[in-house]
Amino acid sequence: MIFRPGGLTRRDAILLLVGASSMHIWSLLFSQHDYPSDQSIVINNHASQDHVVERITLTTTVVEPARTQTRIQTQTATVTKLAAAKSTTKSRAVAPFAELPSTEVLAHAPGWTLFRDVYMSNGTIFIVADENARKNIPEIRMMTSTGLPAENTPENIASREPLPENMQIITPEEAKRRWVTVDPDGKYPDLNRVWSVEGNTLLFNDPTQFLRHYYHLVAELFFGVQAFWHGAFSEPLSTRDALSPTSSIHYSQTHPAVPPIHRAIFAHSNADGWRDNPGFNRYFLRAAFPSLIVEHQEDWEDRIRSTRPKPGQIQTGERAWHFPMVLLTDRSAAHRGWMCGSNTQRTASEAWDYMRLNGKLRGMHVGGWWAPVREAIWRFAGADEGLKPVLDKARQRDRKEEDQSYFGPETGVVRGLGSSAPALDKAKVADIGAEHQKKLPMPSKVVITYISRQSARNRKLIPEDHALLIESLKELVDRKNKERAKFFKDANKVLGFGDDDRKRATDEAGGVPLEWELNVMEAEKLTHDQQIQAAARTTIMLGVHGNGLTHLVFMKPTRASTVIEMFYPGGFAHDYYWTSRALGMSHFAVWNDTHRTYPDKPNVDYPKGFQENSIPAHGPTVAQLIEDRVAMKL
Ligand SMILES: *[C@@H]1O[C@H](CO)[C@@H](O)[C@H](O)[C@H]1NC(C)=O
Ligand SMILES: *[C@@H]1O[C@H](CO)[C@@H](O)[C@H](O)[C@H]1NC(C)=O
Repeated sequence: MIFRPGGLTRRDAILLLVGASSMHIWSLLFSQHDYPSDQSIVINNHASQDHVVERITLTTTVVEPARTQTRIQTQTATVTKLAAAKSTTKSRAVAPFAELPSTEVLAHAPGWTLFRDVYMSNGTIFIVADENARKNIPEIRMMTSTGLPAENTPENIASREPLPENMQIITPEEAKRRWVTVDPDGKYPDLNRVWSVEGNTLLFNDPTQFLRHYYHLVAELFFGVQAFWHGAFSEPLSTRDALSPTSSIHYSQTHPAVPPIHRAIFAHSNADGWRDNPGFNRYFLRAAFPSLIVEHQEDWEDRIRSTRPKPGQIQTGERAWHFPMVLLTDRSAAHRGWMCGSNTQRTASEAWDYMRLNGKLRGMHVGGWWAPVREAIWRFAGADEGLKPVLDKARQRDRKEEDQSYFGPETGVVRGLGSSAPALDKAKVADIGAEHQKKLPMPSKVVITYISRQSARNRKLIPEDHALLIESLKELVDRKNKERAKFFKDANKVLGFGDDDRKRATDEAGGVPLEWELNVMEAEKLTHDQQIQAAARTTIMLGVHGNGLTHLVFMKPTRASTVIEMFYPGGFAHDYYWTSRALGMSHFAVWNDTHRTYPDKPNVDYPKGFQENSIPAHGPTVAQLIEDRVAMKL
């Protein structure tokens, strides 16, 4: 391979420096300097007949966070300005003459792997690691697969085992051989053919099979992403907090912000492949991540093709893309894990449980790690639950959060995982349980939302049972509201207030019965905003097993927050059960006139009748279950 000196002219070198200095100015204006990461740069001048080549080598040194700021402000020379700029940009692009950084696996659970400095060339993910570092790289089949659609046949399972063309681990020497041009005369520095895709990237290796569903995209894929990402970049809990299920930290919904995710790449899906028919996936993605750049299969193909060596052409050498920070998810790999594969069948559960076991899951009993997404959606939908925190903040004149730029330069640092993980006794790490939900405040109003599937194509209740169910729920709500009215009447009589003086009666008497409300929701008749608003107000979400129950991820956590899922008797699936519990809420499976809950949950089963339209549900049983649950008898 011949290095051509004309490849980088003096003009290019100057532009490089100008670009880097303006990055420096940018970083001075906007950086927060929270995290240690500094790169010093040495520039040597090598003169040749016609060209001057600036040699730039990058070395990484770690400095104390407090000192970063000082260093930046006192540096003056162009050379050191470059270094300062580098020290504050999150995504460390690989400069043309830089040595290629080796790959680090910052966090890993089956199907969920957070990489720093990983590469892609010709469609293959390359992990660069020397013999020693290789020991810390997880098994490839626990990170990725061929990305083919899943079926439950031995042939199909085998066809999803990853191949060398999907992922490889190579040595730094091999990476250099592939992607770096070395001048045989040693006159010029090594020039790499690696281009950085800056920022934080989500790389989804899944086919459209499970993307085009509201539940799978939002309550499984992004639910897992949020648990993993928020967990990875959160400070680890103290050992004491991690082991104590009653620590107040497990009840907190406010945690320091984590670095933004800049880009999502659906490697095996076109633009249509992740958009569900009711349109909730696009609504969710834009509302929760308004600045997220979405790339599709076509874009990934662009990147593959532009790094594919063309036979018959002049050999210019292989190119590669460099990703400074990537969360790679793979559904098949998640199913190879114990938690997902043998226990919950939910890919997100691998991400969630890994962070829990490492003392990194924030606000476990109230979905604190999920709160940023939940609140973003509430606010987008115009739900009071989302507007109130923003108004409160405005009143306190605490605008700090709103001023933060999505593309700001803060660097994400992962602590408390891998070799720095504290030695937690995994069997003793706190888990969720209904008893912890009892410590939450009661809702100000009990709102029952029955998500009806009666106008769906399949999985409906027997029409008479549906009618009786609504009748029973109405009876319950009316009776509760009458009890409340009677309470005020009696209290006012005793206290000598006017008949309607509820506020004074409440203040003086206390223990006021709550107001109840029933919503029978036919999702297809409501706008997206209306559905989210309804979910945000819901205390008890009730429905036949199905996609509509996905809205549970936007319920507000309270003492009584409960999901009641009706199945054909004998049937059960973990989807909404696991998801409810992962947010600290209770879940009951109803089989006509019986119900089951954790830890006495049924086994997964899809008996005949599961998908059909004559599912029995005994209304009075469901109403009694709700009454007992709100009274904390269950
Ligand atoms: C690039 O990838 C394609 C598809 O996997 C493969 O057939 C081809 O051999 C690869 N080319 C090189 C040079 O690795
Ligand atoms: C459902 O429960 C009710 C009340 O116990 C009972 O009368 C009815 O026969 C049950 N339906 C089925 C299909 O088991």
